[in-house]
Amino acid sequence: ATSIPADDRVPDMGKRQLMNLLLLGAISLPTAGMLVPYGTFFAPPGRRGGSGGTVAKDAIGNDVVAAEWLKNHGPGDRTLTQGLKGDPTYLVVENDRTLATYGINAVCTHLGCVVPWNAAEKKFICPCHGSQYNNQGRVVRGPAPLSLALAHADVDDGKVVFIPWVETDFRTGEAPWWA
Ligand code: FES
Repeated sequence: ATSIPADDRVPDMGKRQLMNLLLLGAISLPTAGMLVPYGTFFAPPGRRGGSGGTVAKDAIGNDVVAAEWLKNHGPGDRTLTQGLKGDPTYLVVENDRTLATYGINAVCTHLGCVVPWNAAEKKFICPCHGSQYNNQGRVVRGPAPLSLALAHADVDDGKVVFIPWVETDFRTGEAPWWA
């Protein structure tokens, strides 16, 4: 470049910048086009992709299929499944034989025992120190200090999917302590 006469440098700068712009465009346009399918490929499948949903698993580790579940679990049923982060989570069948849109985390808020459902009493009763929760997991007797955690239970592609519950706890009207 130093051998080019000084008078020729000024117009050359303009050409060079134009060439650079054209080159940049030629490289970046196809690259941008390729990034779209690339990004889509790695996004988790499902409409809720990326929001932290987890397919519920039954006692033997199979995905919970909503229609099948409702054939085998009647109104008022509360049965444990594997939920978010592997936590034991009750799937709730409403009295109209539909799945509730919430699941109940079975981990006692006192010291973490898994709380069984007592169908006769219609309560969750902790065997460790006697805490009790109503049929939606709201604490009704201590020593447990808090209600059982919630998760959203959606049906996606026929399967039950748990999604983190970050909204107000509908049982207490308070912010969720677990989020
Ligand atoms: Fe449930 Fe203590 S762990 S009452």
